[in-house]
Amino acid sequence: MMIRIPALLDADEVRQCRQALEEASWQDGRVTAGSLAVQVKANQQLPLDSPVARAIGDRILDRLGRNPLFMSAALPLKVLPPRFNRYEGGGTYGNHIDNAFVTIPGTAIKVRSDVSTTVFFSDPDTYDGGELVVEDTFGQQVVKLPAGDAILYPGTSLHRVEPVTRGVRYASFFWTHSLVASDEQRRLLFDLDQQIQQLTARHPGDPSLSALSGTYHNLLRMWSQA
Ligand code: NI
Repeated sequence: MMIRIPALLDADEVRQCRQALEEASWQDGRVTAGSLAVQVKANQQLPLDSPVARAIGDRILDRLGRNPLFMSAALPLKVLPPRFNRYEGGGTYGNHIDNAFVTIPGTAIKVRSDVSTTVFFSDPDTYDGGELVVEDTFGQQVVKLPAGDAILYPGTSLHRVEPVTRGVRYASFFWTHSLVASDEQRRLLFDLDQQIQQLTARHPGDPSLSALSGTYHNLLRMWSQA
């Protein structure tokens, strides 16, 4: 499933972050690409230990932790530090599927890449191309969102970034190791959780709510692989 999170960062935050990104030192994206990815990857990225990446990454993680939509859709166990990329002058990242496991920088801990998230830092009218194209179970989804918005998509999906033919596209992306590995099961839990929340707003105190909530948690217990 694909879930859009509107305004994960507000307009002021996005402006500050983009200014820091514009002034940061970028490196060729191929330095972290494997032998297959290196053939399709043509972008720039911030080094993982870049102070700018750490500062904006921490801000993103803080906002995610307080975002009910992200928590409900991703069911995060661990979130990897956000990475940052820049596409310009025809820069692109061709079709690929991300590695199943990613090592947390500076440790031997591996995180399963169940959910991918992209956060947009450039407004769509400032660049041409640069669409994130994801082959979801419902077909091809083309994503180009306002700066500050985020999109969640399954780590299992084939995806690409179209060439940027005008302007610059700044974005962040990161992987989440979810309590629930299966995208289908996460979707069922997400739908159930959203309905429980709506019912809670319309009929607070309805006795069926505690039963539904119990079912949600028992399904989560059954399906979680943590
Ligand atoms: Ni990818």
